[in-house]
Amino acid sequence: METHPSLLLLLVLSCFATASYAHNVHLSALNQSLIVSTSTTPGEVLKAGVDQVNISWSYNQSFPAGTDTNYTTVEVKLCYAPVSQAGRDDRKTDDALDNDKTCPFDITEAPYKRSNNSFVWTVPQDTPTATYFVRIFAIYNKHEKGYGQSTDALKTTSLFQVDGIVSEEKEVSAALPAFGGSFGYGYAWLLMLFLVYI
Ligand SMILES: *[C@@H]1O[C@H](CO)[C@@H](O)[C@H](O)[C@H]1NC(C)=O
Ligand SMILES: *[C@@H]1O[C@H](CO)[C@@H](O)[C@H](O)[C@H]1NC(C)=O
Ligand SMILES: *[C@@H]1O[C@H](CO)[C@@H](O)[C@H](O)[C@H]1NC(C)=O
Ligand SMILES: *[C@@H]1O[C@H](CO)[C@@H](O)[C@H](O)[C@H]1NC(C)=O
Ligand SMILES: *[C@@H]1O[C@H](CO)[C@@H](O)[C@H](O)[C@H]1NC(C)=O
Repeated sequence: METHPSLLLLLVLSCFATASYAHNVHLSALNQSLIVSTSTTPGEVLKAGVDQVNISWSYNQSFPAGTDTNYTTVEVKLCYAPVSQAGRDDRKTDDALDNDKTCPFDITEAPYKRSNNSFVWTVPQDTPTATYFVRIFAIYNKHEKGYGQSTDALKTTSLFQVDGIVSEEKEVSAALPAFGGSFGYGYAWLLMLFLVYI
């Protein structure tokens, strides 16, 4: 059986359409509709692999009713504070979330609930020594719709430090998955389609 070329074209186009739609989100376009806090005390230094942080979040009820009706899940991420981004292109902030390298570490994912959310997180052993905060994205249909963070807009308050044991070399490979993202899957898809076609 032969694959009809127009069907193939349609598949390829739909693949790109999905990729560009899912990946054009800017942080500044999201509602900062979540309130996020951590149990850390100012200046606290957490030992990687040992210490725990209790992360709590809820919906900011002063947002217009309905803002969160479509939220389905939350993604909790560990993010570099500006002091640990200085001189590091591989940690650079970009308002376009595709290119943003502020929050390369996934902490957890959970179903969206308006209130009473918390997660006790043990700082993983391979966490680089740096200063951090936590950001949480509210997701609908794989798209970020809202967010909140455990620090202020300038990212100076309520930061915490991690004392890691990772060498620079290991640290780079730990950060790599952040560059791939699901855009990489789009290309994998394309490649597969071509292989099937040949
Ligand atoms: C985490 O923090 C929340 C909110 O302050 C609290 O309700 C919860 O009991 C805490 N969990 C643990 C295990 O300490
Ligand atoms: C909740 O949202 C309101 C309205 O946008 C804002 O003024 C307020 O600072 C927010 N509260 C918190 C704790 O983020
Ligand atoms: C929720 O999703 C529906 C269907 O996609 C859309 O029409 C509506 O505008 C969304 N509401 C909000 C607040 O984003
Ligand atoms: C932000 O909230 C407003 C008001 O509820 C809503 O109209 C808008 O669609 C929301 N934006 C996003 C990106 O969900
Ligand atoms: C919050 O969660 C805790 C533990 O899951 C539960 O015992 C408590 O009843 C909840 N409180 C509210 C207000 O939902």
